[in-house]
Amino acid sequence: MKIIRSTEAMTAWSNKAIREGKRVALVPTMGYFHEGHLSLMRMAHEKADCVVVSLFVNPIQFGEGEDLDQYPRDFERDATSAEKENVNILFAPDTATMYPEPTLTTVSVGKLTGYLCGASRPGHFNGVSTVVAKLFNIVKPHVAIFGEKDFQQLAVIRRMVQDLNWDIDIAGHPIVRESDGLAMSSRNTYLSPAQRKSALCLYNAVQLAKKLARDGVQNIDTLIQEIKKLILSYNEVEIDYITIVDKDTLAGQQTVDKKSWLALAVHVGKTRLIDNAGLFEGD
Ligand code: PAJ
Repeated sequence: MKIIRSTEAMTAWSNKAIREGKRVALVPTMGYFHEGHLSLMRMAHEKADCVVVSLFVNPIQFGEGEDLDQYPRDFERDATSAEKENVNILFAPDTATMYPEPTLTTVSVGKLTGYLCGASRPGHFNGVSTVVAKLFNIVKPHVAIFGEKDFQQLAVIRRMVQDLNWDIDIAGHPIVRESDGLAMSSRNTYLSPAQRKSALCLYNAVQLAKKLARDGVQNIDTLIQEIKKLILSYNEVEIDYITIVDKDTLAGQQTVDKKSWLALAVHVGKTRLIDNAGLFEGD
Protein backbone atom coordinates (compact mmCIF):
# COMPACT_ATOMS: atom_id res chain seq x y z
CA MET A 1 0.00 0.00 0.00
CA LYS A 2 1.23 3.43 -0.91
CA ILE A 3 0.58 6.49 1.26
CA ILE A 4 0.04 9.66 -0.75
CA ARG A 5 -0.03 13.09 0.89
CA SER A 6 -0.23 15.53 -2.04
CA THR A 7 -3.18 16.15 -4.34
CA GLU A 8 -0.90 16.25 -7.41
CA ALA A 9 0.61 12.83 -6.68
CA MET A 10 -2.87 11.42 -6.04
CA THR A 11 -4.24 12.69 -9.36
CA ALA A 12 -1.12 11.51 -11.22
CA TRP A 13 -1.55 8.01 -9.76
CA SER A 14 -5.24 7.94 -10.74
CA ASN A 15 -4.54 9.24 -14.25
CA LYS A 16 -2.07 6.41 -14.76
CA ALA A 17 -4.48 3.78 -13.40
CA ILE A 18 -7.26 5.10 -15.64
CA ARG A 19 -4.91 5.11 -18.69
CA GLU A 20 -4.15 1.48 -17.95
CA GLY A 21 -7.87 0.72 -18.10
CA LYS A 22 -8.27 0.13 -14.37
CA ARG A 23 -11.51 0.82 -12.52
CA VAL A 24 -10.84 2.97 -9.46
CA ALA A 25 -12.93 2.93 -6.26
CA LEU A 26 -12.79 5.62 -3.58
CA VAL A 27 -13.75 5.17 0.07
CA PRO A 28 -13.79 8.61 1.72
CA THR A 29 -13.19 8.51 5.51
CA MET A 30 -12.10 10.58 8.46
CA GLY A 31 -10.08 7.68 9.87
CA TYR A 32 -10.03 5.89 13.22
CA PHE A 33 -11.12 2.81 11.36
CA HIS A 34 -13.58 0.29 12.72
CA GLU A 35 -15.24 -2.68 11.09
CA GLY A 36 -17.72 -0.34 9.32
CA HIS A 37 -14.92 1.41 7.43
CA LEU A 38 -13.17 -1.90 6.69
CA SER A 39 -16.39 -3.38 5.25
CA LEU A 40 -16.62 -0.41 2.87
CA MET A 41 -13.06 -1.16 1.71
CA ARG A 42 -14.02 -4.80 1.06
CA MET A 43 -17.05 -3.70 -0.94
CA ALA A 44 -14.80 -1.34 -2.92
CA HIS A 45 -12.62 -4.29 -3.95
CA GLU A 46 -15.69 -6.08 -5.30
CA LYS A 47 -16.55 -3.08 -7.46
CA ALA A 48 -13.17 -2.01 -8.86
CA ASP A 49 -9.60 -3.03 -9.71
CA CYS A 50 -7.93 -0.58 -7.33
CA VAL A 51 -9.05 0.93 -4.07
CA VAL A 52 -8.18 4.40 -2.83
CA VAL A 53 -9.10 5.23 0.77
CA SER A 54 -8.98 8.89 1.73
CA LEU A 55 -8.30 9.78 5.35
CA PHE A 56 -8.94 13.42 6.13
CA VAL A 57 -10.64 14.94 9.17
CA ASN A 58 -12.42 17.67 7.28
CA PRO A 59 -12.54 20.84 9.41
CA ILE A 60 -15.23 22.57 7.34
CA GLN A 61 -17.87 19.96 8.18
CA PHE A 62 -17.54 20.56 11.94
CA GLY A 63 -19.55 23.37 13.49
CA GLU A 64 -18.37 25.69 16.23
CA GLY A 65 -18.26 23.85 19.57
CA GLU A 66 -18.27 20.44 17.84
CA ASP A 67 -15.60 17.77 18.32
CA LEU A 68 -13.03 18.66 15.61
CA ASP A 69 -10.18 18.89 18.15
CA GLN A 70 -11.16 15.76 20.08
CA TYR A 71 -11.96 13.69 16.97
CA PRO A 72 -10.04 10.40 17.50
CA ARG A 73 -6.96 9.97 15.34
CA ASP A 74 -4.45 7.10 15.02
CA PHE A 75 -2.71 7.22 11.67
CA GLU A 76 -0.36 4.26 12.29
CA ARG A 77 -3.17 1.94 13.33
CA ASP A 78 -5.33 3.07 10.38
CA ALA A 79 -2.48 2.53 7.91
CA THR A 80 -1.93 -1.00 9.24
CA SER A 81 -5.65 -1.83 9.01
CA ALA A 82 -5.97 -0.42 5.48
CA GLU A 83 -2.91 -2.37 4.38
CA LYS A 84 -4.48 -5.59 5.71
CA GLU A 85 -7.51 -4.84 3.51
CA ASN A 86 -5.21 -4.66 0.47
CA VAL A 87 -5.98 -1.01 -0.10
CA ASN A 88 -3.80 0.32 -2.94
CA ILE A 89 -3.59 3.95 -1.89
CA LEU A 90 -4.15 5.65 1.44
CA PHE A 91 -4.63 9.30 0.49
CA ALA A 92 -3.99 11.31 3.65
CA PRO A 93 -3.55 14.99 2.88
CA ASP A 94 -3.23 17.58 5.65
CA THR A 95 -5.52 20.57 6.01
CA ALA A 96 -3.13 22.99 4.30
CA THR A 97 -3.00 20.64 1.31
CA MET A 98 -6.78 20.31 0.99
CA TYR A 99 -7.46 23.97 1.80
CA PRO A 100 -4.34 26.00 0.88
CA GLU A 101 -6.58 29.04 1.13
CA PRO A 102 -9.93 29.39 2.87
CA THR A 103 -12.37 27.93 0.40
CA LEU A 104 -14.55 30.47 -1.44
CA THR A 105 -16.35 27.83 -3.46
CA THR A 106 -18.69 25.46 -1.69
CA VAL A 107 -21.09 22.82 -2.92
CA SER A 108 -24.53 22.97 -1.37
CA VAL A 109 -27.23 20.40 -2.04
CA GLY A 110 -30.15 22.71 -1.29
CA LYS A 111 -33.12 21.59 0.71
CA LEU A 112 -31.91 17.99 1.18
CA THR A 113 -29.49 19.43 3.73
CA GLY A 114 -32.14 21.31 5.70
CA TYR A 115 -33.75 18.25 7.28
CA LEU A 116 -32.60 15.86 10.00
CA CYS A 117 -28.90 16.30 10.87
CA GLY A 118 -28.75 19.37 8.62
CA ALA A 119 -31.26 21.13 10.87
CA SER A 120 -29.23 20.55 14.04
CA ARG A 121 -25.80 20.93 12.38
CA PRO A 122 -26.09 23.98 10.09
CA GLY A 123 -23.38 24.05 7.44
CA HIS A 124 -22.34 20.44 8.11
CA PHE A 125 -23.53 19.03 4.79
CA ASN A 126 -22.04 21.90 2.78
CA GLY A 127 -18.72 20.91 4.36
CA VAL A 128 -19.30 17.26 3.45
CA SER A 129 -20.41 17.87 -0.14
CA THR A 130 -17.57 20.34 -0.72
CA VAL A 131 -14.85 17.98 0.51
CA VAL A 132 -16.35 15.00 -1.33
CA ALA A 133 -16.51 17.07 -4.54
CA LYS A 134 -12.84 17.93 -4.10
CA LEU A 135 -11.97 14.27 -3.43
CA PHE A 136 -13.88 13.22 -6.55
CA ASN A 137 -11.89 15.70 -8.65
CA ILE A 138 -8.56 14.72 -7.11
CA VAL A 139 -9.06 10.93 -7.19
CA LYS A 140 -11.36 10.66 -10.24
CA PRO A 141 -13.00 7.43 -9.07
CA HIS A 142 -15.39 5.36 -11.18
CA VAL A 143 -17.20 4.30 -8.02
CA ALA A 144 -17.34 5.67 -4.48
CA ILE A 145 -18.60 3.80 -1.42
CA PHE A 146 -20.53 5.39 1.45
CA GLY A 147 -22.15 3.86 4.53
CA GLU A 148 -25.89 3.83 5.07
CA LYS A 149 -25.24 4.72 8.69
CA ASP A 150 -24.96 8.30 7.45
CA PHE A 151 -28.25 8.00 5.60
CA GLN A 152 -28.66 11.71 4.85
CA GLN A 153 -25.02 12.05 3.78
CA LEU A 154 -25.54 9.25 1.24
CA ALA A 155 -28.70 10.95 -0.10
CA VAL A 156 -26.87 14.28 -0.38
CA ILE A 157 -23.93 12.74 -2.25
CA ARG A 158 -26.20 10.83 -4.63
CA ARG A 159 -28.09 14.03 -5.40
CA MET A 160 -24.87 16.05 -5.86
CA VAL A 161 -23.58 13.50 -8.38
CA GLN A 162 -26.90 13.50 -10.23
CA ASP A 163 -27.25 17.30 -10.29
CA LEU A 164 -23.64 17.92 -11.34
CA ASN A 165 -23.60 15.15 -14.01
CA TRP A 166 -20.72 13.31 -12.40
CA ASP A 167 -20.09 9.95 -14.02
CA ILE A 168 -19.44 8.20 -10.71
CA ASP A 169 -21.39 5.24 -9.29
CA ILE A 170 -22.36 5.81 -5.68
CA ALA A 171 -22.66 2.57 -3.72
CA GLY A 172 -24.26 2.37 -0.30
CA HIS A 173 -23.09 -0.17 2.28
CA PRO A 174 -25.50 -1.43 4.99
CA ILE A 175 -24.89 -0.32 8.58
CA VAL A 176 -22.29 -2.42 10.38
CA ARG A 177 -23.24 -2.98 14.02
CA GLU A 178 -21.66 -4.23 17.23
CA SER A 179 -22.97 -7.63 18.37
CA ASP A 180 -25.60 -5.94 20.59
CA GLY A 181 -26.83 -3.75 17.72
CA LEU A 182 -25.08 -0.42 18.36
CA ALA A 183 -24.05 1.09 15.00
CA MET A 184 -20.26 1.26 14.83
CA SER A 185 -18.87 4.79 14.93
CA SER A 186 -15.51 6.39 15.62
CA ARG A 187 -17.42 8.50 18.16
CA ASN A 188 -18.39 5.42 20.25
CA THR A 189 -14.89 5.70 21.81
CA TYR A 190 -16.13 8.80 23.67
CA LEU A 191 -18.67 6.74 25.66
CA SER A 192 -18.15 5.73 29.31
CA PRO A 193 -19.21 2.14 30.18
CA ALA A 194 -22.54 3.42 31.53
CA GLN A 195 -23.11 5.58 28.44
CA ARG A 196 -22.25 2.63 26.22
CA LYS A 197 -25.25 0.83 27.75
CA SER A 198 -27.49 3.85 27.18
CA ALA A 199 -26.29 4.10 23.57
CA LEU A 200 -28.25 0.95 22.84
CA CYS A 201 -31.42 3.07 23.01
CA LEU A 202 -30.91 4.00 19.34
CA TYR A 203 -30.91 0.43 18.05
CA ASN A 204 -33.75 -0.52 20.37
CA ALA A 205 -35.73 2.46 19.07
CA VAL A 206 -35.17 1.25 15.50
CA GLN A 207 -36.38 -2.23 16.43
CA LEU A 208 -39.45 -0.88 18.22
CA ALA A 209 -40.40 1.36 15.29
CA LYS A 210 -40.16 -1.57 12.87
CA LYS A 211 -42.26 -3.76 15.11
CA LEU A 212 -44.98 -1.15 15.62
CA ALA A 213 -45.14 -0.33 11.90
CA ARG A 214 -45.36 -4.01 11.03
CA ASP A 215 -48.05 -4.51 13.68
CA GLY A 216 -50.09 -1.93 11.78
CA VAL A 217 -49.47 1.41 13.56
CA GLN A 218 -50.02 3.96 10.80
CA ASN A 219 -49.88 7.27 12.57
CA ILE A 220 -46.38 8.78 12.65
CA ASP A 221 -47.03 10.88 15.79
CA THR A 222 -48.07 7.76 17.70
CA LEU A 223 -44.95 5.93 16.55
CA ILE A 224 -42.69 8.81 17.52
CA GLN A 225 -44.29 9.14 20.97
CA GLU A 226 -43.62 5.45 21.64
CA ILE A 227 -40.01 5.74 20.47
CA LYS A 228 -39.51 8.85 22.58
CA LYS A 229 -40.82 7.04 25.68
CA LEU A 230 -38.41 4.18 25.10
CA ILE A 231 -35.38 6.41 24.58
CA LEU A 232 -36.11 8.58 27.60
CA SER A 233 -36.18 5.48 29.81
CA TYR A 234 -32.37 5.33 29.42
CA ASN A 235 -29.89 7.36 31.52
CA GLU A 236 -27.94 10.39 30.29
CA VAL A 237 -29.82 10.72 27.00
CA GLU A 238 -31.15 13.79 25.28
CA ILE A 239 -33.07 13.51 22.01
CA ASP A 240 -31.83 15.70 19.16
CA TYR A 241 -34.45 14.49 16.66
CA ILE A 242 -36.63 11.49 15.88
CA THR A 243 -38.12 11.72 12.40
CA ILE A 244 -39.86 9.44 9.98
CA VAL A 245 -39.24 10.59 6.44
CA ASP A 246 -39.77 9.48 2.87
CA LYS A 247 -36.52 7.66 2.04
CA ASP A 248 -36.14 9.43 -1.32
CA THR A 249 -37.13 13.04 -0.59
CA LEU A 250 -36.23 13.08 3.14
CA ALA A 251 -39.44 15.04 3.72
CA GLY A 252 -41.33 14.30 6.94
CA GLN A 253 -44.37 12.01 6.74
CA GLN A 254 -47.75 11.93 8.51
CA THR A 255 -48.62 8.33 7.76
CA VAL A 256 -46.51 5.20 7.48
CA ASP A 257 -45.94 3.75 4.01
CA LYS A 258 -43.45 1.44 2.27
CA LYS A 259 -40.94 4.27 1.90
CA SER A 260 -41.01 5.29 5.58
CA TRP A 261 -37.56 5.67 7.05
CA LEU A 262 -36.80 6.32 10.71
CA ALA A 263 -33.83 8.58 11.36
CA LEU A 264 -32.77 9.64 14.82
CA ALA A 265 -30.01 11.46 16.62
CA VAL A 266 -29.54 11.24 20.37
CA HIS A 267 -26.96 12.78 22.67
CA VAL A 268 -25.63 10.20 25.11
CA GLY A 269 -23.73 12.31 27.60
CA LYS A 270 -21.93 14.72 25.30
CA THR A 271 -21.69 12.28 22.40
CA ARG A 272 -24.11 12.68 19.51
CA LEU A 273 -25.05 9.34 17.95
CA ILE A 274 -27.23 8.60 14.92
CA ASP A 275 -29.07 5.59 13.55
CA ASN A 276 -31.66 4.90 10.87
CA ALA A 277 -33.66 2.16 9.22
CA GLY A 278 -36.42 1.56 6.72
CA LEU A 279 -39.48 0.47 8.70
CA PHE A 280 -40.16 -2.35 6.24
CA GLU A 281 -36.55 -3.11 5.23
CA GLY A 282 -34.71 -6.24 6.33
CA ASP A 283 -35.97 -8.32 9.26
P1 PAJ B 1 -16.49 8.78 8.55
O1 PAJ B 1 -17.39 9.08 9.69
O2 PAJ B 1 -15.07 8.38 8.84
O3 PAJ B 1 -17.16 7.62 7.73
C1 PAJ B 1 -16.59 7.17 6.54
C2 PAJ B 1 -17.57 6.26 5.84
O4 PAJ B 1 -17.82 5.12 6.65
C3 PAJ B 1 -18.94 6.96 5.62
O5 PAJ B 1 -19.42 6.64 4.32
C4 PAJ B 1 -19.79 6.36 6.71
O6 PAJ B 1 -21.18 6.32 6.40
C5 PAJ B 1 -19.21 4.95 6.79
N1 PAJ B 1 -19.53 4.32 8.08
C6 PAJ B 1 -19.20 4.78 9.31
N2 PAJ B 1 -19.70 3.95 10.26
C7 PAJ B 1 -20.35 2.96 9.60
C8 PAJ B 1 -21.09 1.81 10.01
N3 PAJ B 1 -21.24 1.49 11.28
N4 PAJ B 1 -21.61 1.02 9.05
C9 PAJ B 1 -21.47 1.33 7.72
N5 PAJ B 1 -20.79 2.40 7.29
C10 PAJ B 1 -20.24 3.20 8.20
O7 PAJ B 1 -18.59 10.09 6.88
C11 PAJ B 1 -17.49 10.62 6.95
O8 PAJ B 1 -16.41 10.02 7.55
C12 PAJ B 1 -17.23 11.99 6.34
O9 PAJ B 1 -18.38 12.77 6.41
C13 PAJ B 1 -16.71 11.93 4.88
C14 PAJ B 1 -17.73 11.29 3.93
C15 PAJ B 1 -15.39 11.18 4.81
C16 PAJ B 1 -16.45 13.39 4.36
O10 PAJ B 1 -15.53 14.03 5.16
